[in-house]
Amino acid sequence: MAFFSYTPLLLLTLTASLSYGAMEPRVGVCYGDLGNNLPSREKSVELIQNLNAKRIKIYGTNAATLKAIQNTDLQISIMLPNGLIPAAASNQSFADDWVKSNVAPFYPKSKIRYLLVGNEILSNQPNSTWFKLVPAMRRIRHSVKKLGLKKVKIGTPLAMDCLEASYPPSAGRFRSDVADRVIKPMLRFLDRTKSFFFLDVYTYFAWISDPININLDYALLQPTNITVSDPGSGLKYTNLLDQMIDAVHFAMNRSGYPNIRLFLAETGWPNGGDPDQLGANVYNAATYNRNVVRKFSAKPPPGTPARPGAVIPTMIFALFNENSKPGLGTERHFGQLYPNGSYIYPIDFSGKTEHYPPLPKPSSNGRLWCVVGDGRNATALAGALSYACSQGNRTCDAIRAGGKCFKPNSLIRHASYAFSSYWTQFRAAGATCSFNGLATLTSRDPSYGSCQLPSFNL
Ligand SMILES: *[C@@H]1O[C@H](CO)[C@@H](O)[C@H](O)[C@H]1NC(C)=O
Ligand SMILES: *[C@@H]1O[C@H](CO)[C@@H](O)[C@H](O)[C@H]1NC(C)=O
Ligand SMILES: *[C@@H]1O[C@H](CO)[C@@H](O)[C@H](O)[C@H]1NC(C)=O
Ligand SMILES: *[C@@H]1O[C@H](CO)[C@@H](O)[C@H](O)[C@H]1NC(C)=O
Ligand SMILES: *[C@@H]1O[C@H](CO)[C@@H](O)[C@H](O)[C@H]1NC(C)=O
Ligand SMILES: *[C@@H]1O[C@H](CO)[C@@H](O)[C@H](O)[C@H]1NC(C)=O
Ligand SMILES: *[C@@H]1O[C@H](CO)[C@@H](O)[C@H](O)[C@H]1NC(C)=O
Repeated sequence: MAFFSYTPLLLLTLTASLSYGAMEPRVGVCYGDLGNNLPSREKSVELIQNLNAKRIKIYGTNAATLKAIQNTDLQISIMLPNGLIPAAASNQSFADDWVKSNVAPFYPKSKIRYLLVGNEILSNQPNSTWFKLVPAMRRIRHSVKKLGLKKVKIGTPLAMDCLEASYPPSAGRFRSDVADRVIKPMLRFLDRTKSFFFLDVYTYFAWISDPININLDYALLQPTNITVSDPGSGLKYTNLLDQMIDAVHFAMNRSGYPNIRLFLAETGWPNGGDPDQLGANVYNAATYNRNVVRKFSAKPPPGTPARPGAVIPTMIFALFNENSKPGLGTERHFGQLYPNGSYIYPIDFSGKTEHYPPLPKPSSNGRLWCVVGDGRNATALAGALSYACSQGNRTCDAIRAGGKCFKPNSLIRHASYAFSSYWTQFRAAGATCSFNGLATLTSRDPSYGSCQLPSFNL
């Protein structure tokens, strides 16, 4: 009797541990290679193992990397490059040949688990490749099945810009230019093949777009007392990442696919950048990435408010700081490691390290000025300048004749000075940087000559 009464409990325990076994909630790393000073593939794989990463993602295929992981338990995600999508979509022999030469020779010794078709292709300009994405995914899957590569799932990573609404999360909705023609067929494919929705998600980009109103700790997954309630769902959010992820969960549900699992194909935070790039420092990068590891390797998995308990496999971007990446300075500073293999800050992807040595907090996360924006109108600007200067407290002393900021005597420079001076003084009392749409915030220092414009230190 006792034996039988215990059986259901035993079964429950077994079921739980089996489901973790099938999809271990462990964190991986994106191994980008856009640097002219990076270690060899073999050395890089050693470094990945030292990080205790369990998964890696590469941006293409690479025989040396696939060989280097053969005696490890690393699972790998490989990628069909964007430029090959049209050929893969229209030509089954092309898809077959590609899989035969890039995947089959290494499988199963290399644990190839995900084959991603393209990278963030819906983030580019409107382009006929969009409509070839799902046909290419179908053909590649057909090739993979024909060759008996049973454990390889097919997906495609999309960025948050696949949504046209994401706040509050329950309003999550896919972009109307792709919702019916690309996303729905993709969701049908992912659902039918039990694959994942691969999402590239950065709270960092959301935070820099509105650093005044979004709390930095909320974006860094630090404990705060902030709770954001979603009036549509009644759910409560305590960090920005959950909010962004659930916007995608709600968008999928809205499109009729409530059960597709999410896979974070990229997330991360820059450890450096150009002087005017906000919040890009070692302290924030270490804080965010350690919190991500902690969250996504926790057992039992916390999931998100909309999907409590969900296992969300996650890859942190990136392994190295990559000096050949184009774009803003931050793009070259997403690594966990310097190109020489040294850690930029201590981090352990196993999730087993609970306490790290404290890092010095930066004195500032950058500065903001309130300046004249585009679409200026001289009459309106003169009015706003005079308003800003009439609020007392010597807001405009520096731009009066003889003041440090008087020369050059330009309306735009003077108005920028007045806006910054007014906004920084009266911000705490509720002033916003607007002036009827004439003003805008910038992190680029507008100071000129010996004139320093007043700034707000984040
Ligand atoms: C269309 O997008 C694909 C995939 O991102 C890219 O390779 C190709 O160059 C783009 N074509 C045009 C005409 O922009
Ligand atoms: C289809 O792909 C095969 C293999 O790559 C190639 O030989 C053939 O020319 C392609 N057919 C067309 C119509 O492009
Ligand atoms: C949260 O609020 C409590 C009580 O007001 C306070 O003691 C604590 O320091 C706050 N925590 C944070 C992280 O702000
Ligand atoms: C999911 O979508 C269905 C059908 O549109 C809707 O009835 C349901 O409320 C949605 N669930 C959530 C959690 O939003
Ligand atoms: C590795 O590179 C970093 C950044 O350039 C440097 O600070 C560090 O001293 C280097 N470490 C070694 C062991 O050379
Ligand atoms: C410029 O602003 C003034 C005052 O606000 C307004 O009367 C005028 O219509 C505006 N001119 C243009 C071209 O928008
Ligand atoms: C005006 O300046 C004084 C002295 O700097 C300061 O104490 C006061 O708070 C300021 N008032 C406002 C509204 O900013």
